[in-house]
Amino acid sequence: MHKEELWIGGCWREAKSYGELRAPYSGGLIAEVPLADAEETGEAIAAAYGAREAMRALPSHERAAILERVAAALKEQRADAARLIAAEAAKPLKYALAEVDRTVQTYKFAAEEAKRIHGETLALDAAPGGEGKLAYTVREPLGVVGAITPFNFPMNLVAHKVGPAIAAGNTVVLKPAEQTPLSALFIGELFHEAGLPAGALNIVTGLGHVAGEAIVTDERVAKVTFTGSPEVGKSIRAKAGLKKVTLELGSNAALIVDEDVDVSRIIGRCVIGAFSNQGQVCISLQRVYVHEAVYEPFVQQFVEAASGLKLGDPLDPDTDVSAMISEKEARRAVAWIEEAKAAGANVGMGGVIEGGMLQPTVILDAGDALQVSCKEIFAPVVVIHKVASVEEAIRRVNDSRYGLQAGIYTNNLQTALRAADELQVGGVLINDIPTFRVDHMPYGGVKESGLGREGIRYAVEEMTELKLVVMNRHY
Ligand code: SIN
Repeated sequence: MHKEELWIGGCWREAKSYGELRAPYSGGLIAEVPLADAEETGEAIAAAYGAREAMRALPSHERAAILERVAAALKEQRADAARLIAAEAAKPLKYALAEVDRTVQTYKFAAEEAKRIHGETLALDAAPGGEGKLAYTVREPLGVVGAITPFNFPMNLVAHKVGPAIAAGNTVVLKPAEQTPLSALFIGELFHEAGLPAGALNIVTGLGHVAGEAIVTDERVAKVTFTGSPEVGKSIRAKAGLKKVTLELGSNAALIVDEDVDVSRIIGRCVIGAFSNQGQVCISLQRVYVHEAVYEPFVQQFVEAASGLKLGDPLDPDTDVSAMISEKEARRAVAWIEEAKAAGANVGMGGVIEGGMLQPTVILDAGDALQVSCKEIFAPVVVIHKVASVEEAIRRVNDSRYGLQAGIYTNNLQTALRAADELQVGGVLINDIPTFRVDHMPYGGVKESGLGREGIRYAVEEMTELKLVVMNRHY
């Protein structure tokens, strides 16, 4: 068991206070982790603020080279990084390895984007009075970016904030989730070794309502980028004043299965979408609206396939599903399942905690107003609904406070295009599950699923300020 430190101004610093980090699966002690207070967080912000000019002056090819070195070093340390994620987040090793691979990609995309941040020239003479003027725009870094990241992708969602921030020439104060600080500190070390100027990345571990709040309310922070719950997201927006804010919040992501679909071809994808990372993914497949013509075979094949999942130690390479992030969260999910049962829903499989793990759970015949349907469950639970038509399914998918991504399987082009038009979400997947993301695509939601977009190029836009330059030729 080791004792971690805060990463501030290019140095490891002992903190005033520490908390224990325990593995969600085994309960074993992994590390002692700093609980940064407001003063220590303020010091991290001061370091980031002081490093702004150095970062702004760093040419884009050097920022790109640093990001490339981080990607290369992470690739080399793939196995260690994945074991860290598996231990602190209980993410099964196969998914932890996939997350590390994606993180390498994310930093590579950031390195590439660093070299193509540019503006445009403008035809000012399109307006009377604009004659004789040369105008162009540039994109400038914002300064200090405050990044608050979640436990479910502890390395790649850090990369989605730190990567574009550094690519754009900003400095960062990163506050990782309480349960997953080690993945973030690991990346901090890689940036240091890659030659990032001191103070350009600072990492304060600890509690959201202390360190996170200090970041959100500090005047020196120009932008806050957050991934987490809608409740915290709304409170961040309310407290952030005039700072720019990007919020990636939750969803109860849905899939529609049309009557003409051969369900045997899609079951494998649907099971992965519902249960990978114990359903703790913002685009986890939570609601499936299946046409009545194929409902029975869909349910039967889904349950059969999900019954083959192997539950166990996240460090075992064969494990498919492990413990949720905490016992408290697992008990909350069970309470929602019990509420659904009491209201007449049927549990097709699972529904109980065994060996500290919530079993993959399938709920049938549930009403849309039940918590399992209308809230984000963030657990290995899927609700399968029977519908009479795709129209009904679209209406019920849209009847949600969230709108991150949705999918539809259909062989009818008109139906697919209609769903693309009508689904109220940030991303529509045609002939795939909503649980799809590669790291350069725009990613973000509507309604309570958030504000703004990630995906490196889109995040760079949100982490830069557009400046206009007008030159008068006839002075
Ligand atoms: C999230 O949970 O929002 C991230 C999903 C992903 O990156 O795959």
